[in-house]
Amino acid sequence: MVKICCIGAGYVGGPTMAVIALKCPEIQVAVVDISVPRISAWNSDTLPIYEPGLDEVVKKCREKNLLFSSDVEKYVSEADIVFVSVNTPTKTQGLGAGKAADLTYWESAARMIADVSKSNKIVVEKSTVPVKTAEAIEKILTHNSKGINFQILSNPEFLAEGTAIQDLFEPDRVLIGGRETPEGQKAIKALRDVYAHWVPMDRIICTNLWSAELSKLAANAFLAQRISSVNAMSALCEATGADVSQVSHAVGKDTRIGPKFLNASVGFGGSCFQKDILNLVYICECNGLPEVANYWKQVIKVNDYQKTRFVNRIVSSMFNTVSGKKIAILGFAFKKDTGDTRETPAIDVCKGLLGDKAMLSIYDPQVSEEQIQRDLSMNKFDWDHPVHLQPTSPSSMKQVSVVWDAYAATKDAHGICILTEWDEFKTLDYQKIYDNMQKPAFVFDGRNIVDVAKLREIGFIVYSIGKPLDEWLKDMPAVA
Ligand code: UDX
Ligand code: ADP
Repeated sequence: MVKICCIGAGYVGGPTMAVIALKCPEIQVAVVDISVPRISAWNSDTLPIYEPGLDEVVKKCREKNLLFSSDVEKYVSEADIVFVSVNTPTKTQGLGAGKAADLTYWESAARMIADVSKSNKIVVEKSTVPVKTAEAIEKILTHNSKGINFQILSNPEFLAEGTAIQDLFEPDRVLIGGRETPEGQKAIKALRDVYAHWVPMDRIICTNLWSAELSKLAANAFLAQRISSVNAMSALCEATGADVSQVSHAVGKDTRIGPKFLNASVGFGGSCFQKDILNLVYICECNGLPEVANYWKQVIKVNDYQKTRFVNRIVSSMFNTVSGKKIAILGFAFKKDTGDTRETPAIDVCKGLLGDKAMLSIYDPQVSEEQIQRDLSMNKFDWDHPVHLQPTSPSSMKQVSVVWDAYAATKDAHGICILTEWDEFKTLDYQKIYDNMQKPAFVFDGRNIVDVAKLREIGFIVYSIGKPLDEWLKDMPAVA
């Protein structure tokens, strides 16, 4: 029986291994993590991450061929295939600070694998890592191997949060990179056989190691670039009276461009896009390609510009001050159907408003008060470390309250900011909300989900990204 062990029970490791266990009943899958609370949660009725469909898959397989444990060494030593899906934060100090990936956790996982292994193993990179990481890992393993053969594969994950289970069930493609030696090819085949249980062969792409590693960074950079492109257009739409939804619909109808990832927003977030582009930029710089590096850097600059522009719109339309005013924040997660707040645009928007002394009342259906307070007081890039190494939760900020209902958040507020596109925000009783707010009452829709005409009819002053401006906002500058 093939035994798989995955180091790192996070957003990638947990769902991916649960689906492998479901689709391959004859394979024994162990997911291990140094975080004991995280493992306990995976073994409980309340899983540590919210992902539609995940509960069902985990419940079906747990205690059959899927287990979660903090006994990392035991399950790694028994496995034939070891996936590594640990944190790869952006470095905050030293060489490459603010750009390069910090491979501390990866390196310690690799050294541990070398230490505890007694039989040959295939080691699979699952976390996004800089190109040529596999080579570094290979060196660590072979220099400490005690005669054991390690084959390194790169098998980047393309799942998106909120649709992870669907993405894993029916992936556009599975990418496996390996050495072009007979042993490397044998290892690729072993991993391909796992995915072949449910993924059609023509969707399993096999490449060399570096192509697989770079493809992941490239795919995320291309996706993020589309969002920055449409967000750049949204600023121009506001200046000219065009409607960004109509523009992206028209542009996306071109089959060469396609309709996906063209929704203007307050900015992209999530654990991958910014980190991967920073990584790409660093790799370009290290390889003497400053023009290429600058090209990709601009995608992040436009994303930051979009968040700043949004805050400026809010402040300038509310008589240039939000000091002491209650602002309701609807949505804090980086997208709907997840409780994940990593790099969410809500952090920058809230920090911007707090900088102008606003009082925030925040509601998100899936994010806890503790998480929000932690996010608003954390330094840039600190989020991407194992929980037990993160700064402890500070005393809560006086200007921020977290409530469990959109109506409580908006009561007596001067303005509402919609920062995540949760479906429930589309069907709120906006008349009731309006009646309970201070006047003039403002809505700033960072996700273009409300019916602007209907809200204006109720009496709201509405700003919606990239849409023709409300008369109220027309002469108010919002450029960063
Ligand atoms: C992304 C990639 O899609 C996935 O393939 C990779 O494995 C990990 O990174 P994820 O970050 O989970 O997945 O979510 P995604 O759906 O890509 O959204 C990222 C951000 O872009 C979110 O903040 C989302 O709201 C924003 N977005 C997305 C837009 O602003 N407009 C769009 O049209 C699409
Ligand atoms: P991702 O989104 O890539 O899955 P997460 O941060 O959600 O990232 O998960 C990474 C997990 O890896 C965390 O739960 C962390 O505790 C775990 N981890 C980090 N280093 C190690 C290690 N050396 N051994 C085992 N688990 C580790």
